[in-house]
Amino acid sequence: MKFFIDTANLAQIKEANDLGILDGVTTNPSLMAKEGIKGHQAIMEHYVTICNMVDGPVSAEVFGTTFESIVEEGKKLAALHKNIVVKVPMIKEGIKAIKWFTDNGIQTNCTLVFSAGQAILAAKAGATYVSPFLGRIDDSGWDGVQLIEQIVGIYNSQGFMTEVLAASIRNPLHIVRCAEAGADVCTCPLSSILGLLKHPLTDLGLEQFLKDAKSME
Ligand code: G3P
Repeated sequence: MKFFIDTANLAQIKEANDLGILDGVTTNPSLMAKEGIKGHQAIMEHYVTICNMVDGPVSAEVFGTTFESIVEEGKKLAALHKNIVVKVPMIKEGIKAIKWFTDNGIQTNCTLVFSAGQAILAAKAGATYVSPFLGRIDDSGWDGVQLIEQIVGIYNSQGFMTEVLAASIRNPLHIVRCAEAGADVCTCPLSSILGLLKHPLTDLGLEQFLKDAKSME
């Protein structure tokens, strides 16, 4: 399973990248706004900065909702850097645009996916990635991991090439469960990635090892 970081924060991207286990980055308009980025030029420059930091796919989301505006924006985003993946919302115009990008060799990430039916449509349009939002599903009282399992099962049995990118990760257990479910990619906040490191027995064991090592000096 590939690890992407779900943020537009440069310090967090650097910290995850320095671990040596980072495969890519996903952003969305909310994450970009959180960094205080304002204006078209600054947004474009921020994507280029991220692409220059991480050697892997970087999802940049379109703001438009019509076929024409999505294609127009997507072409500009894709021209910024070879690693840009155009992130497109799961709407009718978005599916049409994803098909257009597929036919024109531009990679896409179909976002805001909450059902298996939506994931089938995204795959039919040739999306490179599909992003089911498992945390938001859990938040609303449903089982997000179950949806990941269902989509992975459908894609495998149908031979769809679209990669399942588990998004809206809330904690380290989500990452483990996505790995069990066969997700191709997990895009996570830095806190969830670092959370994977933690176990109290590791801390206790290390404390004892360090004490015993010191006693031999
Ligand atoms: O980038 C899409 C997704 O990961 C958003 O997550 O935490 O806003 O539900 P969240």
